[in-house]
Amino acid sequence: MQKTKETKIGLLQFAPVLGDINTNIQKIDAMLQDCHDVDIMVLPELASSGYNFASREEAFNCSETLHQSRFINFLTEKARSMNTWFVSGINEREGNLLYNSAVLMGPDRIEGLYRKIHLFNREKLFFETGNRGMPVFETPFGTIGILICFDWMFPEAWRLMALKGAQLICHPSNLVLPYCQNAMPGYALTNRIFTATTNRVSQERDLTFTGQSVLVNPEGKFLLKAGKREEELLTININLEDANNKRMTPFNDAFDDRQSNLYELSLKEDHQTMKREKKILRKKIKRQKNRYNEDELKTIGQDAMAQLEELPEFQRAKTIFIYWSLPDEVPTHELIEKYRRQKKIILPRVVGDHLELREYSGIESLETGHSYGIQEPTGMVFTDLESIDLAVVPGLAFTKNGERLGRGGGYYDRTLPFLARAFKVGVAFPFQIISRIPTDDHDERMDKVIAARSN
Ligand code: ACM
Repeated sequence: MQKTKETKIGLLQFAPVLGDINTNIQKIDAMLQDCHDVDIMVLPELASSGYNFASREEAFNCSETLHQSRFINFLTEKARSMNTWFVSGINEREGNLLYNSAVLMGPDRIEGLYRKIHLFNREKLFFETGNRGMPVFETPFGTIGILICFDWMFPEAWRLMALKGAQLICHPSNLVLPYCQNAMPGYALTNRIFTATTNRVSQERDLTFTGQSVLVNPEGKFLLKAGKREEELLTININLEDANNKRMTPFNDAFDDRQSNLYELSLKEDHQTMKREKKILRKKIKRQKNRYNEDELKTIGQDAMAQLEELPEFQRAKTIFIYWSLPDEVPTHELIEKYRRQKKIILPRVVGDHLELREYSGIESLETGHSYGIQEPTGMVFTDLESIDLAVVPGLAFTKNGERLGRGGGYYDRTLPFLARAFKVGVAFPFQIISRIPTDDHDERMDKVIAARSN
């Protein structure tokens, strides 16, 4: 029988010290002292910096750019002297932005970078969503993917990487919930790959990390499992080629048997699904909005108005259709007052199931509408819809490329098509920008979406 090459994998489970890169380097270095012949060593998430930051400032202060990093320099030196590849979490800074990243470090240089896509809990306060997709990397040992901690919750991520050819997915983690380690055999088995989850141990402020780093084979068996609390380095030899065999029975192949055309949600056809998804999205956005009081929303929202004023389309516009904001919407009152003598300002009024447009002629001319308690204009009905140059549109959520989720009444979707010439701008709080909105043929797209910057 042909003897195939084995790869030695290491899981280095330890407790990083919050904010202290030098100490973390020393701790890792000490644990590597008696370690030889490991081909790929997997370290935890944010191994350079620790995890549970009190503020973005604290996270920022122990972040490093990949080009100027004590932590990367250390890993480079270790990779070279030990002839070992490393996969390690790092608190990465690029410009002014932070990413919860993991590097793949070869003996000569960084060979791969992954930036965490599914941010967990308060990480959303500090880190940007990963913008490098989900690549896999070729190494002398085989094809490797990287996911970070809470990414584990998303089966699509594991599947995608496995379909791209990953034989091993390295999974630096700082797990606090007790579920992931037991889910790993499912992912390894259904994708017929190896998974290497290195978790951290110990406590930071109010968080206790759950340890139990695991390495699982393509049959879903635990090959390594570390303790709950111990700092430890576990290693094992595996044959990555085992991950190439997707066959389950003479008649079944885990990949060839996929019926991928049946797994697509066809949103246009499936109205019920779309309505359900929109309802869930609306609830989610409302929950996020409820974290702020009216004053905070107003302060954040003012930035969107400032950006709007800067837009050439705004500056050029003579006639503007805009909304008189409710307390939970991006605030428009000041902008309207500021420009009411320079531009013609048109506001909506709910009449039956559609919007009637009327000219704004001062705060005293507004009255409380019957349907939604919105302040509505009482000025002249405005019918020259083609003369409107710019429409400023509220929404519950937008995507960056212009899809909009309204409150559900469909008023704007019925009105905007009549504003044939208008440049349509959606304005949003930061948490109202999401990556996907299920849309229908009658959903109106924005020409531009402005998101307030939160800091
Ligand atoms: C996590 O994603 N660090 C739980």
